[in-house]
Amino acid sequence: MKKVVVILGGGRTNGNTAQLVEAFMKGAAEAGHQAELVSLNKLNVNGCIGCNACRYGKPCVQKDDFHLLIPKIKTADLIVFASPLYFWTISSKIKAFIERFYCIAEKDENPPLGRYEKYPIHDCALLMTSADNFFWTFEQAVSYYNFTLINYIGFHDKGMLLAGGCGDTNGKPQISKTIHLKEAYDFGKRIYE
Ligand SMILES: Cc1cc2nc3c(=O)[nH]c(=O)nc-3n(C[C@H](O)[C@H](O)[C@H](O)COP(=O)(O)O)c2cc1C
Repeated sequence: MKKVVVILGGGRTNGNTAQLVEAFMKGAAEAGHQAELVSLNKLNVNGCIGCNACRYGKPCVQKDDFHLLIPKIKTADLIVFASPLYFWTISSKIKAFIERFYCIAEKDENPPLGRYEKYPIHDCALLMTSADNFFWTFEQAVSYYNFTLINYIGFHDKGMLLAGGCGDTNGKPQISKTIHLKEAYDFGKRIYE
C-alpha cells in the first residue's frame, strides 16, 4: 500500500482534469493504495516571493495554505501533479505550488552537480488535459516536468498521462468521449506493479 497525494492544479469542477484525476484515483484505490486529493482551487497557495527567510532558518513568511500541505508532501510515497494545459504549459497554481518547495529544501553537504540543496524525494507522476492534440501540444509541460521535478528536485518518475483532445473550455468537458479516462484508471491501478 502506497500513500498517494494528487495535487489538482486548477481546472473546472467536474472538468476534464478533475475527471482524469478521479479515474486515476479509482485505479490507485482499487490497487490497494491510499489516495488523497488536494485541490488547489480550494486552497490559497501563492508562489514564492524569494525573500530567502527560509535560507536563514526561518519558516516561510507567507501565511497561506502551503503549511497545510507540507506534512502531506513529506509523508507521501507518490505525488501526482495534475493540471489542465494553460498557454502550453502547467497551470500557474501548480507552478506556484512547486515554487514553494524552496522553503522545504534542506542543506545538502554534498550536492550533485547543478543542485544546491536536498528536497524530500518521492515518486511523482504527471496528469494533464488539453484541447489540442498535436505532437508538440505538451512539449513545454513535459520539458518543465523533466527538468524541474525529475532532474532538479530529484523525484523518481512514475510516468505521465497526457490527455489531449478533451475539448476547449468554451463547451462542456469532452474527456468522457475519449480513451483517456480508461487510460487514467489503468495508470493508477498499475503504477506500482
Ligand atoms: C486559460 C486557458 C488556457 C488554455 N491553453 C491551452 C493551450 O495552450 N493548449 C491547449 O491545447 N488547450 C488550452 N486550453 C484548453 C484546456 O487545456 C482544456 O480545455 C482542458 O482540458 C481544460 O481542463 P478542465 O476541463 O479541467 O478545466 C486552455 C484553457 C484555458 C482556460
